[in-house]
Order: sequence, then C-alpha cells, then structure tokens
Amino acid sequence: MAKNYRIAVIPGDGTGPEVVREALKALDAAAKRTDFTTEKVHFDLGGERYLKTGDILPEETLAQLRTFDAILLGAIGHPDVKPGILEKGLLLELRFKLDQYVNLRPVILYPGVDTPLKDKGPEDINFVVVRENTEGLYAGAGGFLRKGTPHEVAVQESVNTRMGAERCIRFAFEYCRKRNYRKKLTLCGKTNVLTYAFDLWQRAFYDVAKEYPDIQTDYSHVDAICMWMVKNPEWFDVIVTDNLFGDIITDLGAMIQGGLGIAAGGNINPGGVSMFEPIGGSAPKYTGMNIINPVAAIGAAQMMLEHLGETAAAALIEKAIKKVVSSDLKSLSAGHMGYSTSEVGDLVAGYIAG
Ligand code: IPM
Ligand code: MN
Repeated sequence: MAKNYRIAVIPGDGTGPEVVREALKALDAAAKRTDFTTEKVHFDLGGERYLKTGDILPEETLAQLRTFDAILLGAIGHPDVKPGILEKGLLLELRFKLDQYVNLRPVILYPGVDTPLKDKGPEDINFVVVRENTEGLYAGAGGFLRKGTPHEVAVQESVNTRMGAERCIRFAFEYCRKRNYRKKLTLCGKTNVLTYAFDLWQRAFYDVAKEYPDIQTDYSHVDAICMWMVKNPEWFDVIVTDNLFGDIITDLGAMIQGGLGIAAGGNINPGGVSMFEPIGGSAPKYTGMNIINPVAAIGAAQMMLEHLGETAAAALIEKAIKKVVSSDLKSLSAGHMGYSTSEVGDLVAGYIAG
C-alpha cells in the first residue's frame, strides 16, 4: 500500500500563502509520479490571526502539530505587529517547543543561475550550513535593569550547553558522511573573543570528530568565513555553527546561491516533527501580487520529502527546480522572473509530471 504522510501546512504571513500554494503543487505532482499520498491540514497561524484574536500559538495547536509527519511553513512576520512578537512567539516557539535542534540550510548554485561571484560555477557553490536552532543568543536569557532610565542596562546572554552543541555537531558529522561530497566539516565560531561559548563548542567538536576519522575537520572564525564564502566558496562542504552566526551566514549563503528566492531550509528534530520553510521573510511589499519567487518554498518541500525518506520524489522536484531556473526564469527576484508566482509553480509541477 502507498505510504500516506500527514503534513501540517502553515502558510503564515505576507507572501507565505502564495509560495506555499506552489510548493504544494510540486509536492502533489511528485506524489503522483512516485508512490505515496499526502493528507494536508492547514493551520491559520500568523499576524492576521494575532491581530484579530490575540492568539499566537495556542497550546492545543502545538499539541496537534506534534502529531504530524512534517510541517511546511511559508513565512512569519507582519508589518502591523511589533517586531519580535510573532518571530519569538510563533516561529522560535515552534522551533524550540518541537525541539528542532538543527536548522539545515543548503547553499547550492544551480546551473544557469546568476551569482555575484561571476567566475564561480555550480561545482564551486555547493555546501550546507548546520545551524544550532534552540540555544545561543536566541535562548532569551538576560533582562533589563532600570529600564527606561538613563542608567538602563540590557543584558542578553548566549546559552550554550554541552548537550545542545554536541547533538548539533554530531548531526553535522553524520550529515557530512551521508552527503559524501567533500567529506569536510568546518566549525564556524569566534574562539578569539567568545572564549567561553566557543571553547565549549570547540571541545565538543574535536571530541565528536574522533568518532568520524573519515571526515576532515576545519575551523573558521565567523567574520573570516563571510570572506571565504564569497572568495573561496569551493572550500566548504558542511559548516556547523551556533544559532546567531548560523542566522547571519545563511543570509550571505542565500545571496551567493542567487538570492532569497531560491534559499530553502529545514528545522530538524531527527526524532520528532521537523518543519521546512523558505528562509526569506514574509516580504510584505510583494504580498498578494503573485510576483514572489516560489522556488525557495518548493525547495523546502523537496527537503521535506528527503527528510521523510521519499528520495525519488525529492529528486524529481530538484530536477524540476534546476530546469526552471536554468531555462525559464529571467531572474530569481520577485517581479523580474518573467513569470508570475503561480506560473512558476505550474512550470515546476509540469516538469515533475514529465
Ligand atoms: C530565519 C529568520 C528568523 C531567525 C527570524 C525571523 C526570527 O531570520 O529563519 O533565519 O532569526 O532565525
Ligand atoms: Mn535569518
């Protein structure tokens, strides 16, 4: 009997619903060509609902989400909601409460895609960032003292547990071994200044490395890695880093692979429910115009299928993405693709259908 996957769909804010619609088209087309079915349940979460009802992520909803095989997310963030409320209350809450401790973000230049690094090609830009996703400066540790007075103090602390760093590092070594590409794992840190946090990370890294003699290890400071990602991206295979550095370097990664229109990511809990999303935001200025690029969301659906073990269906989607970016799209930027959002989704679904 064909396998059935229960997928929770959170279209979310801004252009989220538009791109998720196209990702679901690709998912359905891939399911039809291979051998599984999906049952999709949509969840109304995000800025609109918050503004109407005050709900961000009700306890019952979270409990329901836990029962799914995977979650596909569009975008979170609304121009009429104060920054931080939805990001922390919904997006980070989902990542933390579902213990999606790895944020997996591939940086791959597909054939035919323009990168500012003109002389680099698809063989030079193909690496994956494993970002710790539940700790660091995102843990919310700290507080105010004398808030609102001239003597105000704000402290924001980075929380790094041995368990948290180690499980993420171990995931990265395993991923690197399975990916079987350059077999090199780079730790990205800041050991010259953050001498507590990255001391712990570095010790965990080299301890775990002993279990993976087949993987070459390397270290780079975060500022230097920003330079190398542009100058010598071909040095990288898998990069592992903490939450904030991972956030920052994956926006840079998105740019060198052609932009946020193509950058997808997964929030992974290897033993629980994982959530896949385009890594760009909700793009309020493009909302409802049918001009946003849905390829990143379609790539998120591809990562979701890979995670579920549907490698053939995932490969169909990846092939279709490569085809659409190399032969159809004039640009990956919203409004300059030469096609509308839904037309791009139709093209991709068409290539999957064969
Ligand atoms: C991302 C985003 C989020 C983050 C924001 C929206 C909270 O930038 O997914 O990279 O900082 O993790
Ligand atoms: Mn980010």
